[in-house]
Amino acid sequence: MEKYNRSIWIISKINNGLSNAKKMIRIDPWASRQYDYEKLTQFGIKKFENEWKDLPDPPFFYRRGIVFGHRDFHKIKDAIKNKKPWVVLTGLMPSGKMHMGHKIVIDQVIYYQRIGADIHIAVADIEAYATRGYSLKEAEKIATEEYITNYIALGLKPCNIYFQSKNSHVKDLGYILAKKANWSEVAAIYGFTGSTNMAHVFAPFIQAGDILHVQLDENGGLRPTLVPVGVDQDPHIRFCRDIAASHRLYSVVEQGGRTGVFVKGDENVEKLLDIAEKIAKEHGYEYERNDAYKAIYMDTSDVDEIDFELAKEERKLGNYGFIAPSSTYHRFITGLDGNKMSSSRPNHAIFLTDKPEEAKKKIWRAKTGGRISIEEHRKYGGEPNKCIIYELFTYGLIKDDKELQKIYEDCKKGEQTCGQCKKLAAQLMEEFLNDLKERREEAKDRIKEYLK
Ligand code: TRP
Repeated sequence: MEKYNRSIWIISKINNGLSNAKKMIRIDPWASRQYDYEKLTQFGIKKFENEWKDLPDPPFFYRRGIVFGHRDFHKIKDAIKNKKPWVVLTGLMPSGKMHMGHKIVIDQVIYYQRIGADIHIAVADIEAYATRGYSLKEAEKIATEEYITNYIALGLKPCNIYFQSKNSHVKDLGYILAKKANWSEVAAIYGFTGSTNMAHVFAPFIQAGDILHVQLDENGGLRPTLVPVGVDQDPHIRFCRDIAASHRLYSVVEQGGRTGVFVKGDENVEKLLDIAEKIAKEHGYEYERNDAYKAIYMDTSDVDEIDFELAKEERKLGNYGFIAPSSTYHRFITGLDGNKMSSSRPNHAIFLTDKPEEAKKKIWRAKTGGRISIEEHRKYGGEPNKCIIYELFTYGLIKDDKELQKIYEDCKKGEQTCGQCKKLAAQLMEEFLNDLKERREEAKDRIKEYLK
């Protein structure tokens, strides 16, 4: 298994002393460390490699394993296949300049927009204020001039981009959701301590508000929701899924090919069981009702369908009935020196607003998978898996898979040299940056079409 020792946000592994079978990992979305992607799949994130093959025109970030993990992606596939409505919600952190690593999430959003998703993008200005020390004004400027402009230039069509601080649905929902989480739980997930500022403590609730507000009736209603994010955001996803579930009246689980429906509270149990029973009957499913267990077991494996229908019933009763959001996770692009790509290390990042000459200089200094001398390179062959230039190719600089494959093989055989690759990378980057710059000029006047 290839080990990605690429730097991203932290993972600290705490050995669970009670059982050697599982290690608990904690991902801290506000810190940064090195990380090994394969491990994540052991903790509830599922591998993405078998999910995408039947989607329309699989894009490069699927084909090349950049999007590597997911939770509940089947709900999204089902919506696509059956032409039912679905929604994408993701967020941008308005801090620093946008670099090549930030591009990957918007590439995904653009693809989902093309295949029919309703797109919502949160500008995390409250989070930037609470956790990064920006004022809301500064965050607004960075978001519009830097991020949104580039998003449009990259090809995003009009959609809903909003600021957290200006969206009362999101903020209200964050507050409402917070009722079902307590301090110990939140502190344990995020590592908050007594000296964490309270705006920071509240940031995950705002993010849950972002993710779930698109299921409110005013914003499109109940439907499968996809949140494409970098893997550092998984704590927020898990937290949001848990909190969505805790606002439900039912829990719906698969049990040995059957669907178990359980009423969660002690109120209206009979009425809620009646509703579930009615659904079973309408579908013609065999079922078993057990009032003592507050449960109905249905002979169907279509858990999602039952869950969705019950969620709708909950909403009719005046509750939220959120369906748990799905997510995908992408790898982070490596910085040009082999450590993390970050706006705080400008010499090792390629920014979307870099001049081609600057980008070229950085590319020439980048770490490659080449050997120490050309003779050795010819003799032993290069190591594309360790090469940052090759990684830039895979992140979209080279569009054609066959061309990419050929470079990979020629490098391994020692036939393609680092000089050749760097030259090609510089040239492709120049075209990309020049083109984007032009498109940014046009994008500037169109920003209002995206902000509600
Ligand atoms: N926390 C995210 C980040 O640091 C930004 C964000 C805010 C977000 N709200 C979101 C991401 C909702 C996905 C969904 O980049």
